[in-house]
Amino acid sequence: MDETLDLLVTNIGQLCIVPAHDGGPQRGAALGDLGLLPDAAVAIHGGEIVEVGPSTRLERTYAARTVLDAQGMLVTPGFVDPHTHVVWAGDRADEFERRIAGATYQQIMAEGGGINRTVRETRAASRATLLAATRARLLSMLSHGTTTVECKTGYGLQTQTELAMLEIICALDDELPLDLVPTFLGAHAIPPEYADDPDAYVALLIDEMLPAVAAWSAGHWPEGVFCDVFCEMGAFDLEQTRRILSAAQALGMPLKVHVDEFEPLGGARLAAELGAVSADHVVVTPDDEIEALGRSNTAVVSLPCTPFGLGHSRYTPARRFLEAGAALAVATDCNPGTGWNENMQFVLALATRYLRLTPAEALAAATINAAWAVRRADRVGSLEPGKQADLVIWRVPAYQHLSYRFGSNLARMVIKRGQVVYEG
Ligand code: NIG
Ligand code: FE
Repeated sequence: MDETLDLLVTNIGQLCIVPAHDGGPQRGAALGDLGLLPDAAVAIHGGEIVEVGPSTRLERTYAARTVLDAQGMLVTPGFVDPHTHVVWAGDRADEFERRIAGATYQQIMAEGGGINRTVRETRAASRATLLAATRARLLSMLSHGTTTVECKTGYGLQTQTELAMLEIICALDDELPLDLVPTFLGAHAIPPEYADDPDAYVALLIDEMLPAVAAWSAGHWPEGVFCDVFCEMGAFDLEQTRRILSAAQALGMPLKVHVDEFEPLGGARLAAELGAVSADHVVVTPDDEIEALGRSNTAVVSLPCTPFGLGHSRYTPARRFLEAGAALAVATDCNPGTGWNENMQFVLALATRYLRLTPAEALAAATINAAWAVRRADRVGSLEPGKQADLVIWRVPAYQHLSYRFGSNLARMVIKRGQVVYEG
């Protein structure tokens, strides 16, 4: 015994390290490198991973204040969910019922429902209500094995309500054991008061909201708040998207973009051109733009819960993106309109069936590549020495089960920075 650790997780039947490649994502055909280790242990101290290796050797090497027996089960990095709209009030159950009966998402949006319906409910909610609703969803994510969550604003669409949403994300990042990553999505929809003059809202975004968010970020979130735009028919066109993202970039904000969810407007090419950190949705992306993203460092974030939630049959052409060499990640897109799902295990179930990812590819897309999609691949997403000790002990023996099974929670224990934060 040469050292005393905070925690030693022993008797791991199958450990998935899911290594970063050159400190970054697993690109293209290289996706799915799980770095499998049988009969393993993880040594943890000060919230970080000290060593991973054979259980018998690590048990001999280290004394630990706490020893956790994984009982021969699977251990993976905690999931990173790199695209959520988790801060909202109310619900849209009635719209769902109408959609199932044949109304389309775009029709409901054009009638003032959809995103603007949730904007009304979110603006009307008290801070306590919004905080409680968001906290409950984040804790549900944690209990299903997610340890880092990107959280977008976008249901305020006024400077003050958007800043209030950022404050809520910041407060819950402090309060909860999850790491949260804030994104400003003031360009989520044209709010009703600007319905007749969308360009005036774009001007407000550029002249008032973005500078206010950049100033807030300097005081509260020095790492930088992302700026995202919903580039879509009925939301922001390509030219408006370019203006908003360029203004954000000039303020030093890193970029994300919702592209090609329903109609291809050229947003994927723009994301690659501007060096966005991620391009998300990418369902109807044309071949030449797939190639452009494949050559870029922009992560491609697929959100299979969205077509599933809408009852659509078209999903991200993930295999085409991998052939093009892209850094492919997956996320829940958790939101009250298209997909209210807090569980990344279900994303893996969909990604294997509808994106045709292998179970190993899906797991890497939900961990190391998802970390890349929020610029955190240096800290989370893999179980390598020096990284945060964010891991999940599952109640299944092998990684395939995470995609193979669905509908019930397979997480037994979630560990965040070396602390047990959920036990099922
Ligand atoms: O990613 N596409 C835009 N935003 C969400 C939907 C949000 C909503 O309908 O409330 C999405 O699908
Ligand atoms: Fe989204």
